Amino acid sequence: YQLFVTNEDIQPDCIKLNISRQSTVLINKQFPGPEIRATIGDILIVNVYNQLINNEDLTIHFHGVLQKQTPQMDGVPYLTQLPIKSGENCSYVFRVQRIGTFFYHSHIGLQSMTAFGSLIFVDRSNDKIIRTRYNYTEERTLLLSDWWHNDRLHLEQGLLAVPFQWLGEPSAIIINGKTMFNSSCETVNGAGYSVINVERGHRYRIRVIGATTLSTLVFGIEKHKLLLIEVDGNYVEPLSVSYLEIASGQRYSFILDTTNQPIKNYYIQASIRWRLVKPNNGIAILRYKSASLVNKIFIANQTFSLPKETVEYLTNKLQPLTNFTNNYNGGKVPRKSNQEFVLAGGQAAFNGTGIQWVVNNNSLMLEKLSQPKSALEDVYSNNQLSFKTYVIKKGQVIDIILQNLVGAGGVCESHPWHTHGHMFWEISYGDGVYREKDTHLFAHPFLRDTTMLYATSNAYFQYVNSTNHNKPCGWKKIRLIADNPGLWFVHCHIVPHMLMGMSIVLEESKKDIKMVYIPKY
Ligand code: C2O
Ligand code: CU
Repeated sequence: YQLFVTNEDIQPDCIKLNISRQSTVLINKQFPGPEIRATIGDILIVNVYNQLINNEDLTIHFHGVLQKQTPQMDGVPYLTQLPIKSGENCSYVFRVQRIGTFFYHSHIGLQSMTAFGSLIFVDRSNDKIIRTRYNYTEERTLLLSDWWHNDRLHLEQGLLAVPFQWLGEPSAIIINGKTMFNSSCETVNGAGYSVINVERGHRYRIRVIGATTLSTLVFGIEKHKLLLIEVDGNYVEPLSVSYLEIASGQRYSFILDTTNQPIKNYYIQASIRWRLVKPNNGIAILRYKSASLVNKIFIANQTFSLPKETVEYLTNKLQPLTNFTNNYNGGKVPRKSNQEFVLAGGQAAFNGTGIQWVVNNNSLMLEKLSQPKSALEDVYSNNQLSFKTYVIKKGQVIDIILQNLVGAGGVCESHPWHTHGHMFWEISYGDGVYREKDTHLFAHPFLRDTTMLYATSNAYFQYVNSTNHNKPCGWKKIRLIADNPGLWFVHCHIVPHMLMGMSIVLEESKKDIKMVYIPKY
């Protein structure tokens, strides 16, 4: 694949702005970027060309790809590679190891607001098994993102400025690169919603990718149930739900059955949850073949009534697909851990008016490191690193307790935590300060690579009832196996939080780190 990364002026929600939007970053001039699709065993070669103006750096991260034996291909600036400078290029080469739904995105600044695309891995033999198991013929992909009517570089600078300037809530929720901000859009050429074409009487596999910068979304399709089959690249026993919560970095596949509905156009909608301000324009159209054309309509009031609880119930119901050879660790959850540590994430004010996010009182901003070598190369050649890491040993079972702390404004927020290089099982969760007792254990811990750490187990109540903000926030325990030597970034996938320091690095089995050009497995 060839990815040319450039600055473009686009109006994805059809609002023409007076300011120059040249800071928007696109891949191959497309929004979303081109789909990358490969088969297990393939050697994937992605050549990335940084053609950005303003001397902006670039890296591309393949989200959810474990990069075994190729940690240098993980795309984290200054950690696993030096950034690609403007005018330069870089080849990402790795072997495709797991089937499932992933995505790739820029890992610099807020570039990933528009610089992302789907990454889909299939397997010739398993594909048949999966298609028969879940009984579908065709598939569609939906990429969900958010969009601001402000200059991206300006928003980025505000986050680290003193005084701190929050980027604010997004102007629009975008589905596959399009939406209508409001009804005045109808006059703009080419305006409209993304249209997903289906035919009555079929079963489709729909892949949904949470590529948002900030927002956690609740997603649903008018008059249709979603039969969940995949979570972050892991296949599960089918579970029928009426809506999905999708945080930044999360992916799901579900089966959409079109046999029982009349031929019509249906709304596909994504709206924000866990925050107070919500644009209600995250809409696309599911069009049955021979339904009338209704592209240019504005339906601002078509919103879901949000379920008021967190989705922990979902976590309790999902089970890995049984008798499936592709299950990680043979589908078994380790019963105990050998090592455990807490990552307490909160905010800290500095110089009176600047704001950072901290983990265990430390704010890690990789892009500011600007060192001559990547940390991975330094660790490989036994040099001292300039920042704190969390050392984990080969073969150990590690428990990480994600502890949510009250922010500077006295408010608990929810955070989608993502681990590079690893999937993890969600083990337990609770309110307040982490204690071994009082835990809610998940009945069927299941694997994913991005999990929501809620404000509390009833995050909606916590956030909306402003008198209740001084309650302690919640925690969640995740478990992983240290089977992948490397330096792995672990961070909140809300991009502004990450840029403001809400991240740590796992230093895993340093002596066994390999940086192979093309791994043989
Ligand atoms: Cu998709 Cu480090 O993230
Ligand atoms: Cu966060």
